[in-house]
Amino acid sequence: IDGPVSPVQQRNLEKAWNCKVIDRTGLILEIFGERARTHEGRLQVELAAMSFQRSRLVRSWTHLERQRGGLGFVGGPGESQIELDRRLIDERISKLKRQLESVRRTRELQRAARRRVPYPIVALVGYTNAGKSTLFNRLTDSGVMAEDMLFATLDPTMRQLELPSGRRVILSDTVGFISDLPTDLVAAFRATLEEVLEADLILHVRDIASPESNAQKQDVLEVLSSLGIGDDTRTVELLNKADLLQEEDAAAIQAQSARHEEEVVISAVTGAGCDLVLQLIETRLADKNEIIDVTLAYDDGRTIAWLYENGDVLSREDGEEGIRFTVSLDPKNAGRFQQGKNS
Ligand code: GTP
Repeated sequence: IDGPVSPVQQRNLEKAWNCKVIDRTGLILEIFGERARTHEGRLQVELAAMSFQRSRLVRSWTHLERQRGGLGFVGGPGESQIELDRRLIDERISKLKRQLESVRRTRELQRAARRRVPYPIVALVGYTNAGKSTLFNRLTDSGVMAEDMLFATLDPTMRQLELPSGRRVILSDTVGFISDLPTDLVAAFRATLEEVLEADLILHVRDIASPESNAQKQDVLEVLSSLGIGDDTRTVELLNKADLLQEEDAAAIQAQSARHEEEVVISAVTGAGCDLVLQLIETRLADKNEIIDVTLAYDDGRTIAWLYENGDVLSREDGEEGIRFTVSLDPKNAGRFQQGKNS
């Protein structure tokens, strides 16, 4: 049932229909629970499930209280059972929060370590089922699971990706967005999106074949803006599932998006437009690059190798004083290069 169902309603409906009845939050929790792959993901889902259960206890308790009200006695067996359940849940919640805190600290360390890796981070975001994992696989050729299931990705997944120029980036797949996310789950959901905040480029994957496409886009933008990523120049829209469109619709969308630099029409399944995505990543990241001119001694093999490995060598001239390079470096590597030169 797409809405909240109280425990009593649930029980009555289950009796009447003779089948399991769950509400939206319950369903989302079940799916999240099944899909969570990392330790942190599982802790977050359990925490959300506990908070959900606790709120249902409160609800059934007020309900009982109302029933009891007229009878005029206090502290019946129902109440003490509920108090006990509530205490057990509270204890579990405190424990989960402590565990989460320690997992987060570890993750912060990992993230700091990753910051030292010279590759820019490109994050895929999008409404659930938009095709992020499929695109992620197509671009990285890795075996991350892509299935026609909601929330196939609860935990961010990262893979290294080599662009046509040889430049390397880290591609990060994130959890699918969903509208009307139950409040208990919002925090858990946000935490998994923290990676997006650090991304150098954000690819917003959209299912343009869905009749809900525009509403989904709004939902995604709202979540992004709540994370502090509003109308960001870092974001690019990928209009996915173009293969499912009628020919004339496809042509119209193609014509419209041709006018926007920050949009590409693609199909993650057929691969159409995916080469453009790689190019777009390349140009977007290159915009931030620094062009550096440097002359190196012929025997400075280490620095020369480093330039080829980490930068894009635009020109090379062998002169009397050494080899003159013009090289394009991303901000991280440009900083390292300058530091290396000074030390
Ligand atoms: P969540 O993990 O729920 O966030 O989903 P996701 O955005 O990662 O979507 P996923 O890649 O799992 O794709 C969802 C479904 O859409 C799968 O059945 C894919 O095969 C299908 N799909 C993805 N891209 C395309 C496409 O370009 N064309 C068509 N026809 N189907 C696609």
